[in-house]
Formats: sequence, structure tokens, C-alpha cells
Amino acid sequence: MPSITKIRLEIISNLPVTHNCFRLELAGEGLPAVAPGQFVQLEVPGKFLRRPISVHDASVERIVLIYKTVGEGTKLLAGMTPGQSLEVLMPLGRGFDPGMCGKRALLIGGGLGSAPLYSLAKSLLAARKQVNVILGFNTAADVVLLDEYRALGAEPAVVTLDGSYGTKGVVTDTPIPEHDCFYTCGPLPMMRAVCKTLETPGELSMEERMGCGAGFCYGCTIQTAGGPARVCADGPVFKKEDILW
Ligand SMILES: Cc1cc2nc3c(=O)[nH]c(=O)nc-3n(C[C@H](O)[C@H](O)[C@H](O)COP(=O)(O)OP(=O)(O)OC[C@H]3O[C@@H](n4cnc5c(N)ncnc54)[C@H](O)[C@@H]3O)c2cc1C
Ligand code: FES
Repeated sequence: MPSITKIRLEIISNLPVTHNCFRLELAGEGLPAVAPGQFVQLEVPGKFLRRPISVHDASVERIVLIYKTVGEGTKLLAGMTPGQSLEVLMPLGRGFDPGMCGKRALLIGGGLGSAPLYSLAKSLLAARKQVNVILGFNTAADVVLLDEYRALGAEPAVVTLDGSYGTKGVVTDTPIPEHDCFYTCGPLPMMRAVCKTLETPGELSMEERMGCGAGFCYGCTIQTAGGPARVCADGPVFKKEDILW
């Protein structure tokens, strides 16, 4: 198992990016490298279990997480301010394989699944691959990260369920650009539709409730084509053929 670091990081900023999503920037010395699709287990003061959150962006001295306030832990997190610190377990899990694709990659994100795909887009573009991005949301108020993708030179095709932004429908309703392989992250029904529709090789990022987040408790085990697998350590990224729908 790759080495996992427990590190205390300082909050640099923690700002809303939509009505229910925040962008949390953390910094510290001795930050280990993080690959696209890997995640962290974030301490939430007063809570026994850490919360798993994907790394949206990373550099040598900082990481950026995008999180949605859904329950007690993430609501407590939203109240934290710059200067406070959090203990983080990182880097966790197996991320995306940027080498899987030939020249043309297709990235399909649903909701906050758009966050980890951003660092993948960055590394694919750095490897001089063509990157097409499709992002799906419920409604215009949920649209996030468009400007960040645009700043990379990727112009995402946006789809909303209610048609209030971009094309109306789901991600598989948009014209699918030519591609050699795809990567997807988002709600399970969306990823299932993507994997069933596209015949090209693909990877997807799974989500499960987690205890340790580091492969020890087996609390996040799912059945895969190759037998039981821990989402935290054998995933969260799996090949599409590994998943038993
Ligand atoms: C690998 C991975 C990456 C993730 N990346 C992101 C991300 O980038 N942004 C983001 O907003 N969310 C992400 N999630 C989901 C996030 O972990 C949950 O939304 C969060 O833990 C909810 O905590 P809470 O205390 O607010 O909710 P509560 O419902 O109060 O949490 C109760 C318990 O259930 C767990 N839990 C609740 N929902 C989930 C869930 N969907 N997945 C796993 N555990 C859950 C909590 O960790 C906690 O232990 C990710 C989950 C996984 C497994
Ligand atoms: S959460 Fe403990 S093994 Fe995955």
C-alpha cells in the first residue's frame, strides 16, 4: 500500500462557490504529492469519523477541495475560517490512470463529480492530450467550476436537467465527441448510463461510506468483477468493466 501521511493543514480560505458548495484551500509544509482522483480523509472537529473528500487541485504547498454541505460534518466544516487547522489523512486511494487514453480523452462529470476531474484535465492537457469535457447539473444554481475549466482552455459542454443552463437533459443527451477513452465521476445512475452508452474504455470514481479510509476496516467493500474490493484502497477509481451494475 502506498504511504499515507497524517498532516495538520491550515485553512487558507473556505468560501462558498454556489448556494450549497464551498471551496476549501488548505496549506502546509511537507504536503505529499496527490494524483488526480485521489482523496483525503478530513478531520471535522467534534466528529469521530473523518469525511472523505476528493482533491480538486493540488500543488507542492496546498490542496483545494470542493465540498457540498449535506449533513452535520460538512455544515460544521462550512463554519471554519482561515487560520484554523484540520488534520488530514492523505493521499488516499487509487486515482485515474492518465496513461489509459491515446490522444483524445472525454471527461464526464455530474454535480461535484466535476471537481476531481479538473486535476485530471490539467494533467492530460500537460501531457498534450485533447480533452473534451461534459458537465451535468440539476439546475443553473448548481453549476460550478466552469471558469476554472475554461481557464485551462477546456470549454465544457454543460447540461442541466431542467434546461436552465446549457442543454436540457442528462449528460448522455449531448453529442458525444470523438474520443479514445473516457473518465467519469458523479452520481451512480449517471455513471451507469455513461458506461452503458459508451463503448470505449473508461474509468469511473465510486463513492461509499467510509470508516478508516485507508484499507483496514473493510467498511467500504463492494463486489466487483474481480471479487470484493475496498473503494478506499482498491478504488475509488475502477475500470468500467470492474463494476457490477
Ligand atoms: C472517495 C470519496 C470522495 C468524495 N469526494 C467528495 C467531494 O469531492 N465533494 C463532496 O462534497 N463530497 C464528496 N464525497 C462525499 C462526502 O464524503 C460526503 O458528502 C460527506 O462525508 C458527508 O458528511 P456529512 O457529515 O456532512 O454528512 P452526514 O450524512 O451527517 O454524514 C454521516 C456519515 O456518513 C458519511 N457519508 C455521508 N454521505 C456520504 C457519501 N456520499 N459518501 C461517503 N460517506 C458519506 C459521512 O462521512 C459520515 O461518516 C466523497 C465521498 C467519497 C467516498
Ligand atoms: S473505509 Fe476502511 S477499508 Fe475502506
